[in-house]
Parts: sequence; structure tokens; C-alpha cells
Amino acid sequence: MRQARAYAIAGLAALVAGAVAFAQSETVPLPEEAPVEAAPLDDNAVAALAETQWGDPQNGATLAGTCAACHGLDGNSTIREVYPSIAAQNELYIAHQLALFKSGERSSPIMQPFAAMLSPQDMRDLGAHFAAQTAQAGIADDTVVTEGPYEGMKFYEIGQTLYRRGDPERQIPACMACHGPTGAGIPGPSYPHVGGQVSWYTARRLEEFRSGTTHERDRRLFDVMATVASRLTDQEIQALSSYMEGLHPRPDAATRAQMARLEGGAEVVPTRGGPGATGDAVQTEMPDVPAGAPGAPEVEPADPPQAPAPEAETPAPAEPEPQP
Ligand code: HEC
Ligand code: HEC
Repeated sequence: MRQARAYAIAGLAALVAGAVAFAQSETVPLPEEAPVEAAPLDDNAVAALAETQWGDPQNGATLAGTCAACHGLDGNSTIREVYPSIAAQNELYIAHQLALFKSGERSSPIMQPFAAMLSPQDMRDLGAHFAAQTAQAGIADDTVVTEGPYEGMKFYEIGQTLYRRGDPERQIPACMACHGPTGAGIPGPSYPHVGGQVSWYTARRLEEFRSGTTHERDRRLFDVMATVASRLTDQEIQALSSYMEGLHPRPDAATRAQMARLEGGAEVVPTRGGPGATGDAVQTEMPDVPAGAPGAPEVEPADPPQAPAPEAETPAPAEPEPQP
């Protein structure tokens, strides 16, 4: 009996050490399914969010030091090949995901120990800090597709079409309806910010939704995306993820004019890839973002959450809406 416990503790220590070593290495791919209990799971973590208030970004900024090694102090991934970005993610969405990690309903051996240390209000405070940050976009892939149903299109254009218009014949709703024209999502716990997210992570999430992989007890939100993703091919998932990595709000007209002057002529838009990168093409038709609207949603949602295709049932937000 006692021996079994000793083994269990030794095993746990090894797992924690493994998780830490894993977190520090740069090249190892993320495990798909490895629920490691580095700290006790808290069944009540999601329910406990109901008792919280709108997050305090200042306290969040203090707490964010713990997250900086991977997500960056401003929420932009430090190593884009390994960590997702959380900059500009919605306050309540961040808190909700942290609670899911803490309860073990969403399993990540890397995130679970960090989430376990947080109180429900800490989660909201961290959410408020990261929500106020600006997401850096990456570059979309503009390689021309040489075969298959999308022959002749640039790779990201496959994703762009689906993102903006969906495919009514196959009952795929436009992603834009719930995630917004610039990928900003809709404030609240339900509709995440997706613009600029590293593409491997978006692709992995879409594959999880498609295969139904979830630990969530409350499946309402998950099932929305599971329905959408079930109709996507591998190629479409990759193309959407590439398009979304390049997706970001267009700077306002004054900023563009100033940048054009600085660059000596042509109007340019900043992306990580610099002028001329495909990301520019991806976002040039995006609507202007109202200048200087801190705390406000980055863009007006194109459609209310009720708008998407009939098949994708839109659940009511899981948590009470906060007072801004
Ligand atoms: C050691 C690196 C590391 C640290 C430190 C870390 N994270 Fe993470 N985080 C990750 C990884 C890896 C994932 C992806 C988890 C998965 O789904 O496999 C992630 C996922 C997340 C997600 C979900 C993102 C989404 O869009 O689904 C949130 C929110 C998050 N982290 C917040 C935080 C916060 C807040 C902190 C600090 C308290 C933190 N993380 C500290 C590595 C880290
Ligand atoms: C009917 C509304 C709706 C539509 C349409 C929709 N989504 Fe979502 N999406 C959601 C919801 C709700 C979630 C959160 C799911 C959860 O919490 O389990 C989500 C989550 C996601 C995530 C996970 C983000 C993260 O940070 O972990 C990605 C990626 C995503 N959606 C991509 C897409 C793409 C691509 C499309 C179009 C093919 C799309 N969505 C269409 C509602 C929608």
C-alpha cells in the first residue's frame, strides 16, 4: 500500500519533471492526448468563474510574468512554432479556457500546472490584460495549388473563401459570422479571437473539433465547432489556418497615410513578413478599424451570433455577461 503510494509520487514527480523539460525544449511537438496531473484537478474551476467580476488588467499584467516565457508579456507567442498566441483574445474566453485546464476538462500537461495556481479572479485579470494587447499576424501561404478541387487558387484563398462565405452547398457556415471579419471573435466566453494565430495551432484545434476530441463536460460550445469542422477536408483546414495566420485588422486611414509617407510612396500595412508578404493581400479588403477604441471590440461583429447557418446551433453564453 505504502509502496504503491511511493511509486505514485515518484511517477508524478517524473511527469512534472518531464513536463518542465518538455516546456523548455523548442523542437518537441505537442502531445495530443496526455493528461498529466501535475497538480490536483479542481472540479469546481469552471463553476467558480460565476463568482468573479470583469478582470483588472493591472493585476493581470503583474500575473502575466508567469506566462511570458511562452506567450510573451504581450500575449504574442515567443516561439511561434511551439506556443499559441493569446494577445487580443477575449477576456472571458481566456478565463474560461484557464478554468478548463485547471479542472482537467481541457487537457494540456503544460498549461495545467500554471492554471492550477490561479484563483478564478486571477483568470479574469489575466484575461483582461491579454485582451488589451495587440495580436501580431503572421504570413499566409500564397503558393498556387496545382491539383485537386481548388486547382489554380492560391493556397490561402481556399481559406479566405470559406472564412468569408462558407460553402452553403456543404452546409459550412462562414467563419466570419462568429469570428468576425478580422478574426477578433465576439467579446464573451464563447467566440474566440482567431486572427493572427499561429497556423499549426489553429489547424490542430480544427482537427480536434473534427475528430470530436474533448474533455469538456459541457459540450455546448465545443459542438458548435465540431459541426463546422466535421465538413472540412485536411486541405481546407490547412488553408483556413494559413489564411487566419495572416488575418489582422487594417490600420486606420491616418496610420496608413503616415506609414506611406515613411515608406516613401506606396501604402503598406505592417505584418511580421513586412510589405509585400501575403498577409498584406489577405487583409487589404478588411474594413477599417475604428481608431482608438480601447477595451471596445476591435470590430463590430459582422453578424450577431444568431446569424450562422441553421445547422450550427448557437448556444447561449455559458457565463453571465460581465459589465464592461
Ligand atoms: C511553458 C509554456 C507556457 C506557459 C508558461 C504558459 N502557457 Fe498557456 N499555453 C501553452 C501551450 C503549449 C498551450 C497550448 C495548449 C494545448 O492546447 O495543447 C497554451 C494554451 C493557453 C491558452 C489557450 C489558448 C487558446 O486559444 O485556446 C490560454 C488561454 C493560455 N495558454 C493562457 C496562459 C496564461 C494566462 C499563462 C500564465 C498564467 C500561461 N498560459 C502560461 C504554454 C504555456
Ligand atoms: C456558429 C458560430 C461559429 C462558426 C460559424 C465558426 N465558429 Fe469557430 N468557434 C465557435 C465557438 C463557439 C468556439 C469555441 C469552442 C469551444 O470553446 O470549445 C470556436 C472556436 C474556434 C477555434 C479555436 C480557437 C482557439 O483559440 O482555441 C478555431 C480555430 C475556430 N473556431 C475556427 C473556425 C473556423 C475556421 C470556422 C469556419 C470554417 C469557424 N470557426 C466557424 C463558433 C463558431
